[in-house]
Amino acid sequence: MRMRASVIVLGLVCGLNSWAQAAPDGAELAACAACHGAQGQGNPALGAPRLAGQHFSYLWQQLRSFKVGARGYDAQDSQGVLMRSALTAVPESALEGLARHYAGLATAESPALAPQGRGAALYQGTCAYCHGPDARGNAYLQSPNLRLLDAAYLDRQLRNYASGRRGNSEQDAIHGPWMRSVAMQLGDTDRQSVVEYLSREEAVEE
Ligand code: HEC
Ligand code: HEC
Repeated sequence: MRMRASVIVLGLVCGLNSWAQAAPDGAELAACAACHGAQGQGNPALGAPRLAGQHFSYLWQQLRSFKVGARGYDAQDSQGVLMRSALTAVPESALEGLARHYAGLATAESPALAPQGRGAALYQGTCAYCHGPDARGNAYLQSPNLRLLDAAYLDRQLRNYASGRRGNSEQDAIHGPWMRSVAMQLGDTDRQSVVEYLSREEAVEE
């Protein structure tokens, strides 16, 4: 009887302990909030994207990529370098909990996408296969929800993929190179029209 009780207590302690490891640390969250905002809403002035409501699998993958230098590896990519340095003191074991925290925060609903136009045709023909017809991403493919992101951030990422500042196969062996090969096919006009399509004014309002 006594032994059973101690087994139960041990089980509880272990359970609580693993829960404590998965939940992010207050100090770490305060550091993230300095750039991404207290609700993970992002700060376009700093180039820090919205994290709230993004797919957990995507956020976790990006944090691991920054941590090992598969993203933020190019000195010309100043925002990526900044984000990579923000993880210097954050242990690898904390990344999953941080991703789960931000994925679980609520985000504003984006309005429906415009049914036609150059951006719509391009998006539905080239991007929807991986990011979904509504651009909300696909957790299984680790493709992000694009409707959470502001125009300047979207545009910069597409240019960074095309130039190899992000998703270069020498640094990033996983999903970035897929996206890089897509971005390399986009001319300036195509890129601008797809960004405009994804980030119409109302879509980025709080
Ligand atoms: C000094 C400012 C700063 C701090 C502090 C910071 N970030 Fe960032 N973060 C950025 C910027 C800028 C980017 C955009 C990088 C780019 O353009 O590639 C970014 C990008 C990201 C991304 C990629 C999002 C996407 O859509 O691809 C994730 C995830 C992220 N940050 C999580 C965090 C977490 C978690 C913390 C706290 C541990 C944190 N950040 C702290 C500035 C910061
Ligand atoms: C083959 C599947 C695929 C196609 C097609 C595709 N994407 Fe992606 N996209 C991804 C994946 C996977 C990622 C995450 C890559 C990484 O880890 O860097 C991504 C990332 C992105 C990002 C970065 C978002 C962020 O939060 O940093 C943008 C912007 C983007 N895609 C836009 C587009 C647009 C616009 C198109 C069409 C022109 C497109 N994608 C087509 C799979 C795809």
